[in-house]
Amino acid sequence: MIKGSTAIYGIFGNPVSHSKSPLMHNAAFRYFGLDACYVAFDVLPERLDQATQAIRALNMRGVNITVPHKERIMPLLDYLSPEAEAIGAVNTVKNSQGLLYGYNTDAWGFIQSLSERGIYVKGKRILVLGAGGAARAVVYALAKEGAVLFIYNRTAQKAESLALEYGSMGSIISAVSQKDLEDLVSLGGIDMVINTTSLGLKAEDPLPCDIGSLNPNTIVCDLIYKRTPLLQAASEAGCTTTLDGSGMLLWQGVYAFQIWTGLTPPVELMREALR
Ligand code: ATR
Repeated sequence: MIKGSTAIYGIFGNPVSHSKSPLMHNAAFRYFGLDACYVAFDVLPERLDQATQAIRALNMRGVNITVPHKERIMPLLDYLSPEAEAIGAVNTVKNSQGLLYGYNTDAWGFIQSLSERGIYVKGKRILVLGAGGAARAVVYALAKEGAVLFIYNRTAQKAESLALEYGSMGSIISAVSQKDLEDLVSLGGIDMVINTTSLGLKAEDPLPCDIGSLNPNTIVCDLIYKRTPLLQAASEAGCTTTLDGSGMLLWQGVYAFQIWTGLTPPVELMREALR
């Protein structure tokens, strides 16, 4: 029931109508009987400044930020968490008495989605496909956990800058060429492959890498929320552990809910709402 006192939360994206975050957060608000609701706002890039001002003006309590605003919102906020600063992207904003705090819960959410499946990345040799915004959160999270990383991207220079930037965090990170990629995969030197590119969103997309010769113990992850051609091909090649992006979506939301409310989120209920 929306009343005069109802607190407003939301998500800013463009497009945003496909977002499942309202389902997940409204389910959690209902669980606690909170007088709050969560709405999706389709914010055009040229309106982001005004939309961010509106968080304060309308006293919205918190918002999630998604594509294409995660980087551009940063200078519009009052404070950034160390993760948000290091990753260069914000996906969660908390309004505390008119001051806007920016967080990045994607990195933690990604690690949590692995650990709930019993996957720990310390010392694992991991191939990250892509070097865009989504890759930054993943590479940051994995580097912090002490994985050994190889980054392949269509535009090689972006993979090289990412490797250089996060290489100082104490992890071993290298950018790899197309040729290195084939060798790495075929020589069985990879424990996990993670697709962070947009390849796989459309059914007709080519695979982001040739996985024909992957060894069956290799874990294959895709940040896309559905069973992509990559995950399908990995299963067909005999890989026993494959993960789509729905776990990361859940856990980044769980952490955002906790930041906003200070409550322990009802994880299974939120998972069910997403499903
Ligand atoms: P996001 O925030 O979702 O990561 P992004 O920052 O635009 O979006 O990054 C998209 C990633 O997908 C990049 O690594 C991009 O490769 P380039 O840096 O070469 O552009 C990758 N990508 C997108 N379309 C691709 C394609 N057709 N083939 C290979 N890689 C692609």
